[in-house]
Amino acid sequence: MTELTPSGFLLEPSPTWLPYFGNQRRFVPYVLELLQGLGARPSDTFYETNAGSHAISWHVNKLLGLTTFANDLGAYSYAIGSALSGFDRDSRTAALGAALIEEYGYLVPADAPTPNSETIAKWIRFLREESATNENRRRTNVLRGDLFELLPSWSGDFIYCDFAWPWKDGSFTEEYEVTGDTLSLHLGDETETQFRMASSRRILQDVLEYLDLARERFRFVILSNQSSNYPTPEVLEPHMRAAGHVPIISRRLSVPAEYVDDLGKDPVFTEYQYVFEGRAA
Ligand SMILES: C[S@@+](CC[C@H](N)C(=O)[O-])C[C@H]1O[C@@H](n2cnc3c(N)ncnc32)[C@H](O)[C@@H]1O
Repeated sequence: MTELTPSGFLLEPSPTWLPYFGNQRRFVPYVLELLQGLGARPSDTFYETNAGSHAISWHVNKLLGLTTFANDLGAYSYAIGSALSGFDRDSRTAALGAALIEEYGYLVPADAPTPNSETIAKWIRFLREESATNENRRRTNVLRGDLFELLPSWSGDFIYCDFAWPWKDGSFTEEYEVTGDTLSLHLGDETETQFRMASSRRILQDVLEYLDLARERFRFVILSNQSSNYPTPEVLEPHMRAAGHVPIISRRLSVPAEYVDDLGKDPVFTEYQYVFEGRAA
């Protein structure tokens, strides 16, 4: 039985999802509610720039029926998306990534031994079942690339971006580099992926570049950020406004941190979401 807060945050016990650093699986109902409020229809398209665990795009496709285009730079993320879309040969790769994280945490060592075969088999089963129970899955598209290289060639109805943000103090989020680079080695990935985490200065430029490019090409542009990250809303909001990006919706959902990152830093974790009207409206 899945429990929800009134604002649609998934509490335990919640449906299983693959482990992924920064995954938003518990915010899925919150995002679905936002899209419904914006009038999303099955004939619409939904793009996700940094899909990570694919929890958001997958459920937008499965539960709302939109055609999705989910992109990420990482091999593990790509394997998850491909396996869910029905490319069964990718299930083993995605399951291996999930099992490594389950056994060693997000900072998987480069020399970590192969995880327990039962853990791998458990994740293969999960991916197959999840894929088989989504009747819309033929309308999922999985991409792998740098968001700023791909975005100029995209256009559609909705676009959603949850960057690999730096920590609130401006330091790097090393877990993404490990999930990106070290995990790629474990998964036998042949693509050369150089994860470059944005500095606190760079991320502010990236946000504006995203908004500039996306608002020209989409009807609605969504930006998601979290209270554990830089820039904080006090820095981000005036920065966007000064560049002419004023959201039509600005909302936040606070939940006990133990339900999300459980880093022991702050008692409360807040998800911030901003919606901008696109010029393609
Ligand atoms: C905060 S996570 C996204 C989590 C996602 N919202 C979820 O629910 O799982 C950020 C993601 O950005 C990806 N990433 C980092 N740099 C990127 C780039 N230049 N282009 C595309 N994806 C990138 C990382 O691999 C990581 O999966």
